[in-house]
Amino acid sequence: MSTRYTSLGRFPNTRLRRNRREAWSRRLVAETKLSVDDLIWPVFVQEGKNERTPVKSMPGVDRLTIDLFAEAAKEARDLGIPAVAIFPETDPKAKTPDGREAYNPDNLVCRAIMAVKKAVPDIGVVCDVALDPFNSDGHDGIVRDGYVQNDETLDALVAQALVQTEAGADIQAPSDMMDGRIGAIRKALDDKGHIHTQIMSYAAKYASAFYNPFRDAIGSSGALKGDKKTYQMDYANSDEALREVAFDIEEGADMVMVKPGLPYLDIVRRVKDTFGIPTYAYQVSGEYAMLRGAADRGWLDWNRVLIETLTGFKRAGCDGILTYGAVDAARLLKGL
Ligand code: PBG
Repeated sequence: MSTRYTSLGRFPNTRLRRNRREAWSRRLVAETKLSVDDLIWPVFVQEGKNERTPVKSMPGVDRLTIDLFAEAAKEARDLGIPAVAIFPETDPKAKTPDGREAYNPDNLVCRAIMAVKKAVPDIGVVCDVALDPFNSDGHDGIVRDGYVQNDETLDALVAQALVQTEAGADIQAPSDMMDGRIGAIRKALDDKGHIHTQIMSYAAKYASAFYNPFRDAIGSSGALKGDKKTYQMDYANSDEALREVAFDIEEGADMVMVKPGLPYLDIVRRVKDTFGIPTYAYQVSGEYAMLRGAADRGWLDWNRVLIETLTGFKRAGCDGILTYGAVDAARLLKGL
């Protein structure tokens, strides 16, 4: 070897490339392992029978009728996916300014919960708690005088969490960002004896442009008046995320979530390091659309970017990830 490099620091005694040279060695030194146990699969449901409707802005994602959803959940369970998250496309005629359809015990979400719990009792069922799929204003809470009313909304959220729990949902996931919702929901669940129902709080949820395809999928984008900046967080802020998480833990959250995912991995790391609580991130609809859209044009390799991004979430400190790519990822991780 040429002598001109021998005085440069640790090189050549230390060669970081040694451990990377062979595949077996790379496996041996890998710090982060993504597993199917880390995945939560969000699914859109719609009314009807035996029908799937493609979501235009999310290629490869279909909205499913309840019967097809139950079958899909069975496949997900067989692949080892621990949990699904249900999101309903509500009939526009059922949407009102007070979002009361959210706590109709016979609504689409509750029927989907019952069907999946009957068909696949051993898969975890996560349900959002927020009014936007049911609210004719498209907001997560009740709008009065042009403002989403916090305390009034809490009553509706509590009622929603109760019907979803009574239908059989395992995890209530408040995604509304009202102050005090975790405590209010925990208390109401406990008062009714639902002491085992878990709460996964969307604790650090940002007002993001990455949610647009989701709003198409549940049919709330046309309805939404204005934006959600008076309740969802400003993406300029990071300390504030820690305050949100601290409050939610104090109020009884069992798990917390950061959302969106990829542009917010710094938040995931701070939350995990500060609180050590089970921490999740949501690889949201816009992130999915971005990767899939590019892959469909031949610009990215879908399988590779999917596994790379999900591993990145884990490396940042996530215990799990909500991803529309859960089924694809599970297949890849099983070598199928
Ligand atoms: C509703 C909710 C949203 C998402 C999950 N729950 C949208 C929003 O807050 O407007 C977004 C998920 C995604 O984009 O994939 N409160």
